[in-house]
Amino acid sequence: MRIGLAGAGRIGARHAAALCELPEVEALVVADADAARARALAARLGGAPAERRAPGGPSSPEGAGSRRPAQTPTGSLGRAPGGADVRAVGEVGELFSAGLDGLVVAAATDAHADLVERALAAGLPVFCEKPLASDLDGTFQIVASAKKAGIPVQVGFQRRFDAGNAAAREALASGRLGWLHTVRSCSFDPAPPPAEYVPTSGGLFRDCVIHDLDLIRFVTGRDVVRVMASGANRGEDFFRDSGDVDTGSALLVLDDGTLAQVSATRYNAAGYDARLELFGSKDSIVAGLDERTPVTALPEHDEEHRDPYAGFLERFSAAYDAELRAFVDVVAGRRANPCPPEDALEAFYLAEACELSMREGRIVGAEEVRR
Ligand SMILES: NC(=O)c1ccc[n+]([C@@H]2O[C@H](COP(=O)([O-])OP(=O)(O)OC[C@H]3O[C@@H](n4cnc5c(N)ncnc54)[C@H](O)[C@@H]3O)[C@@H](O)[C@H]2O)c1
Repeated sequence: MRIGLAGAGRIGARHAAALCELPEVEALVVADADAARARALAARLGGAPAERRAPGGPSSPEGAGSRRPAQTPTGSLGRAPGGADVRAVGEVGELFSAGLDGLVVAAATDAHADLVERALAAGLPVFCEKPLASDLDGTFQIVASAKKAGIPVQVGFQRRFDAGNAAAREALASGRLGWLHTVRSCSFDPAPPPAEYVPTSGGLFRDCVIHDLDLIRFVTGRDVVRVMASGANRGEDFFRDSGDVDTGSALLVLDDGTLAQVSATRYNAAGYDARLELFGSKDSIVAGLDERTPVTALPEHDEEHRDPYAGFLERFSAAYDAELRAFVDVVAGRRANPCPPEDALEAFYLAEACELSMREGRIVGAEEVRR
């Protein structure tokens, strides 16, 4: 199949490399608002010289898995080690006439809604990085458009694909934990993203905490009824200048009475820490606690040097691979969408509720922000 990639930045480059490793992906077409960036990524991935392939029509999902000839990609930059032809296009709009079978959107957040809508209009299944849109209206609109078009839009909540989180979900569902009294979830980045990322990110709750919000719903199977959130600015000024916070915390009340706490920061120099802790009446478990989790137990027992996770790309490497394998299966019609836009909308409602709670310093009911 031929997959397009819109956005060749941090996560786009990672997704591109993973896509090129998948046997179903015959061609990857890369675009970015910064055409030079798209070209550079395609050149990096397509290190092997391109073979000329017999011309053929655009591939279709039914053909997925078969290595049949793809359309000869004009301007092909080469063949990735996994075998995929990789090329860059100069304009993002060219993606929609490139004979694609599916599109991966990894552009800046404020470009998501437009790209997803254009993909749906072109009949393309989409994988879109979180958040689906930078605001509630855009998210709501995409849910409606995807439903109307009957085309899958898979949202990039990769934590659902993390082995620890998946095991936590199973453990809870099995009854092993009894009833939950407390859930704790954290997203601690070791260092802030580049300053220019912040103004278009949507803010800490929509950009970062949204992962925790989705994960808590996914793992517990419960909805959130109200939130109380707060934020802090103790780091660099560019967060405050963008109306954002560098650290945030929220207390969520789930519809069965369970209390869930979420914490996030851009300043956890010890390393990247994304953990989910479930405390139940019978047992307690943690996903994301291993020898690389950047915490020191006291009193310290040895001088062993830790090798903490450097960032989300490393911590969730296997999960990112798994979500893209799933997307290829969705494109091929082999599996149902594991991360539908309706769930992204629910998580977005909660992020909005957290923002509102933080701004107004009060408890916000989930129904207050719901459309
Ligand atoms: N799931 C995760 O764990 C995870 C991790 C990081 C980022 N993300 C999400 O991925 C997205 C990208 O983040 P990033 O860290 O890679 O940012 P980045 O700034 O490194 O890259 C964004 C790229 O998008 C390009 N771009 C902007 N507008 C575009 C458009 N209209 N069409 C095509 N390209 C466009 C920019 O030129 C840039 O190259 C964000 O929405 C972010 O929330 C998700």
